[in-house]
Order: sequence, then C-alpha cells, then structure tokens
Amino acid sequence: MTIESTHNPALIRAAPAGAVIHPAWVRVTHWINVVAMLVMIGSGWEIYNASPLFPFRFPREFTLGGWLAGALLWHFAAMWLLVVNGLVYVALGLATGRFRRKLVPIRPREVLADAKAAFTGRLAHDDLSVYNAIQKLLYLGVILAGIVIVLSGLAIWKPIQMQELAALFGGYDAARYVHFLAMAAIVGFVVIHVVMAFVVPKSLRAMITGR
Ligand code: HEM
Ligand code: HEM
Repeated sequence: MTIESTHNPALIRAAPAGAVIHPAWVRVTHWINVVAMLVMIGSGWEIYNASPLFPFRFPREFTLGGWLAGALLWHFAAMWLLVVNGLVYVALGLATGRFRRKLVPIRPREVLADAKAAFTGRLAHDDLSVYNAIQKLLYLGVILAGIVIVLSGLAIWKPIQMQELAALFGGYDAARYVHFLAMAAIVGFVVIHVVMAFVVPKSLRAMITGR
C-alpha cells in the first residue's frame, strides 16, 4: 500500500466521470481574482519602488502605473474588484460548505506524508475533486494571506480613520511591513501554484470548464 492510498480518499472514492469539479462561482471569482491580484502586485511594486523598505527595487518591466501617482490610482481602483470579488468567494465558500468539505481538516501527519510523496513523485492527482493535504494548506494559507493583505492595506490607506486596525498591526510602519510580507507570501504561492497548474494540465482545464 502506498503512502497516499492510506489516507487519500481520491483512491477510494473517485468522482463520477463528467461531474462538476469547480462550480461556476468558483471559476468566475478565481479568474477575476487573478486579474485583480496581477494589478495589485504590479502597482504595489511601483509604489514600493518610490520608497523601498529593503535595499532593492523591482524591475520596471514588472511594475504598473509608470510612477507613484499612477500606481496608486491602479492600486486603489483594483482594490475594489479584489475586495468585492474576495467577499463573494469567501461568503459562498462558507455558505455552500465548500471550504468545510475541501479545505479542512488539515492533519500535520498527512501534510508530511503528502510532502514526502510529492518529493518522490508519487503524489496522486487522479481525482481533482479532492485536494491533498498540501493543496489544502496552501489554499487556506493564501486565503488567510489575502485577508491579512486587505486589512493591512486598509490600515496604511487610512491610518487615521482606521487607527485601531493600524494599532492591531503595531502601528503604520509595522503594517507596511506586514503588507509587504503578505505580498511576498502571495507571490511565492502563485509561482508554485502556476507551475503546478501546468504540471497537471487537467487541473487547469477543470478551473476553466468546470470539469
Ligand atoms: C484592500 C486592499 C489593499 C489596500 C487598501 C492597499 C493599500 C495600499 C497602500 C495605501 C499602499 C501605500 C503604502 C505607502 O504609501 O507606502 C500600498 C502599498 C503596497 N501594496 Fe497594497 N493594498 C491592498 C492590497 C494589496 C495587494 C492584494 C497586494 C499584492 C498582492 C498589495 C501590494 C502592495 C505593495 C507591494 C505595496 C508597496 C509596499 C510598500 O512599500 O509599502 N496591496 N497598498
Ligand atoms: C495565472 C495564474 C493562475 C492559474 C493558472 C491558476 C490555476 C488554478 C487551478 C488550475 C486551480 C485548480 C487546481 C487544483 O485542482 O488544485 C486553482 C485553484 C485555486 N487557485 Fe489558482 N491560479 C492562478 C492564480 C491564482 C491566484 C493569484 C490566487 C490567489 C492569490 C489563486 C488561488 C487559488 C485558490 C484559493 C484555489 C482553490 C479554489 C477552490 O477550490 O475554492 N490562484 N488555480
């Protein structure tokens, strides 16, 4: 018996052929989020370049807005798309039971077993309707990073009106670091995530067509 077959329901209960894996609301909010995130990252990098927190700048080719004021306009425009779309996704994820069914529980033992299986090339991707422990961890993690980046963003956008929120992060300067670190976590996730989508192309097809 292989490691994954000891706990991965994918090998016990395969989804019926042709069943919907990602309902329309997941696909629509997912792809809107991709657009919003790309605009937020590109404009965020331009904002960062105007007054870097660390001794480096992002290459101009990867930034959006042309200069600080242009980047801020993009950032504050796409933030509405990001927040409204994110609220719809999280509300439906909770209300439909999708998060409960697909993203929890995350057991450390399973994360370790799946990590070992992944590194030895034995992690099953047979049933796309069931996430392995690493997928659960990463998806839940990026949803939490999304919440942190929105809250820290609000704290540095309106530090006077949102004093309590800024204080929660340890003040304006600390909130700026939190905002940056959440961006780094999201970018790190996206790099691995996009590589995996192309390594397992049927997962990409399912996120487009639903099946
Ligand atoms: C509601 C959502 C968001 C709000 C209200 C917001 C707000 C802000 C504000 C006000 C700044 C300027 C800080 C300053 O003047 O130094 C900023 C910077 C930045 N934002 Fe956002 N942001 C949001 C979401 C995001 C997202 C989703 C990303 C990327 C994934 C992002 C990445 C960045 C980066 C990299 C910076 C530059 C960091 C710095 O040097 O301080 N933001 N954001
Ligand atoms: C071009 C960029 C992207 C591509 C090609 C892509 C592709 C995919 C694919 C194929 C899936 C389903 C994979 C699976 O079965 O595990 C998926 C799910 C997911 N993606 Fe992406 N993605 C992209 C960007 C992003 C970004 C920027 C985020 C968030 C910051 C994100 C968050 C998620 C989440 C949370 C799920 C799970 C959704 C659910 O089941 O409710 N993705 N993505």
